[in-house]
Amino acid sequence: HRTLRVALLGAGSVGSQVARLLREHGDDFAERSGARLELAGILVRDLDAPRDVDLPRELLTTDAESLIVGADIVIELMGGIEPARTHILTALNSGADVVTGNKALLAQHGPEIFDAADQVGASVSYEAAVAGAIPIIRPLKDSLAGDRIVRIFGIVNGSTNFILDKMDREGLSAEDAQRLATDLGYLEADPTLDLEGYDAAQKAAILASLAFHTEVSMDDVHREGIESITADMIEGARRAGFVIKLLAICERLADADGEAISVRVYPALISREHPLATVHGGNNAVFVEGEAAGPLMFYGAGAGGVQTASAVLGDVVSAARRHIAGGVGVGESARQSLPTAEIGRI
Ligand code: NDP
Ligand code: HSE
Repeated sequence: HRTLRVALLGAGSVGSQVARLLREHGDDFAERSGARLELAGILVRDLDAPRDVDLPRELLTTDAESLIVGADIVIELMGGIEPARTHILTALNSGADVVTGNKALLAQHGPEIFDAADQVGASVSYEAAVAGAIPIIRPLKDSLAGDRIVRIFGIVNGSTNFILDKMDREGLSAEDAQRLATDLGYLEADPTLDLEGYDAAQKAAILASLAFHTEVSMDDVHREGIESITADMIEGARRAGFVIKLLAICERLADADGEAISVRVYPALISREHPLATVHGGNNAVFVEGEAAGPLMFYGAGAGGVQTASAVLGDVVSAARRHIAGGVGVGESARQSLPTAEIGRI
């Protein structure tokens, strides 16, 4: 097998599990991808920070440039905008394929990153950026590329679902439920991203961009979070036969002026009879409605280090296959332009 050098940026909840699985299942990855994946190094901030997984000290580095230049595949699991954006652009410009789980970055700078990849014929894959372990990006990009998507809606944030579910089913306070979600590694480094709906809005922007072949950014998304949801509100909803869930909704709309799309995130009352009411814990569920396919449902773990590592490593195997086949860019930057309609709740 040919050897490909893999640079991992980040060894937190997700990155540490990716490093462990890459090292433990090296032979499987070689068989599946046709290339031996050599973990060349892992970028961290603090070489001495305690980690979820025992990693050889000599793999850890704080020198991003030396690690990235010369890598064949760069996996970005640092989060945040900078320096993640600069590192990804450096990786692409030095010929690497990139795998990332960074929805914040893609929702804000996706077009710049996809353009950079297309210019050099490299790929950027991001299955982990939306709905954790659930395959949703590739189904939208590939399997449903021949259909016309009319609507996507569902639960795309695991930590807020976990918090609301603990409050609903176990009567926990918001604070206690949030503490448990933190312990499980579900929350972003900045928890307000989850609690105030930014994370779900970023994912909704990514899904809408893919589904409707247009550019949707965070600013186009109507956003409300769960920060004002109290135990009393949840109890009131429960007594009336409802459950409160943070929903993301992306819709194609037709009006007198032609087509527009609406993308919105807000806590909604869901009947306890609805399938979304049974999405418990850190799970996510995404309904996709294709004009030809009809309704499809994607369900599973929406957050968590090892679960998300599954999605990251699927992208890594694909990138390795593509890399050794001398593949060309995926043409992600070719999009049409649809107006977004701010219509709030409907
Ligand atoms: P963590 O905060 O747990 O880990 C981040 C890692 O990146 C740490 O190892 C940190 O180093 C390193 N890092 C951060 N900033 C820098 C920097 N400036 N220079 C060098 N290293 C840096 O994040 P997660 O693993 O939870 O998330 C990673 C990405 O995956 C994010 O984009 C997140 O949105 C996404 N994601 C997360 C999911 C989850 O369930 N956690 C699910 C799906 C996607 P150090 O350890 O030294 O501090
Ligand atoms: N913080 C995110 C969530 C992680 O709770 O869903 C998965 O993207």
